[in-house]
Amino acid sequence: MIKGKIIGVISLKGGVGKTTTVANLGYALSDIYKKKVLVVDANFSAPNLGLHLGLVRPSATLHDVMNGKSNPEDAIYRYNSSLDILPGAYISKNLNPLLLRKKIKPLAKFYDYILLDSSPNLNSELQAAMAASDELLVVASPDFPTLSTTLRAIRVAKQKRTPITGLILNKVYNKNFEISIDDIEEAAQVPVISVITHDIKIPKSISESRPASLAFPGSNSWSQYSRLAANIVGQEFKETGLSNVIDKINNYAKSLFNTKKN
Ligand SMILES: Nc1ncnc2c1ncn2[C@@H]1O[C@H](COP(=O)(O)OP(=O)(O)OP(=O)(O)O)[C@@H](O)[C@H]1O
Ligand SMILES: [Mg+2]
Repeated sequence: MIKGKIIGVISLKGGVGKTTTVANLGYALSDIYKKKVLVVDANFSAPNLGLHLGLVRPSATLHDVMNGKSNPEDAIYRYNSSLDILPGAYISKNLNPLLLRKKIKPLAKFYDYILLDSSPNLNSELQAAMAASDELLVVASPDFPTLSTTLRAIRVAKQKRTPITGLILNKVYNKNFEISIDDIEEAAQVPVISVITHDIKIPKSISESRPASLAFPGSNSWSQYSRLAANIVGQEFKETGLSNVIDKINNYAKSLFNTKKN
């Protein structure tokens, strides 16, 4: 029997890219690594994961599961042969977020990975996501306002004793005004396991209700999410095609730069 890992995707700042990460990482894990994945919208107050994956009007939702009005299997929708989604209700419904762990844990035997999207607020919703997770990924962008909230999120996770697997730096411009990876790792004492550059293809793909890693195969975003998925499954991501060539050119340029410096 499969014993799936439950991974919470968190941040204490809205709009940094948690939902985008859950949709794209979930898709990459299912598509490239053929893992059985469930993505869950545990951002109870403002759920929108379904809209990233083309699920506009789910009849049963996680809210109904939490309230005991639906069985989980009635609120789980199939995205592809190995990716399922458990969406939230777009119309607000009262519930006790702290029941999340009890509702989600039994589903882990059906999946390799369950990814939990979460609320950006330090409230019982975020605490419930942390408590339901075996490990956490923290999403941040490399700027001071986000770093300050990221450090706070990490402190809270450590208090809750939920292990943090790593930081995902999102919306990276690769400009020198951004905080460096080394400085972020030193401040956070958590490794940066993924860098996702700022890419207009991401809002474009969301407007089409598709993850960018599906809509733009071979793009930078596709390759960055594929690498993140490889990291999660503990495999090496082997580039093919154009992105491989671009990487080689980048490495060559870097090696010239390093040679000049020495
Ligand atoms: N790498 C990226 N490049 C460009 N735009 C991005 C990137 N990642 C996310 N975005 C955009 O940022 C916006 C916020 O993303 P998202 O909804 O995933 O954030 P969030 O952390 O889930 O927000 P919330 O805390 O409100 O739930 C979206 O409009 C998305 O298009
Ligand atoms: Mg979100």
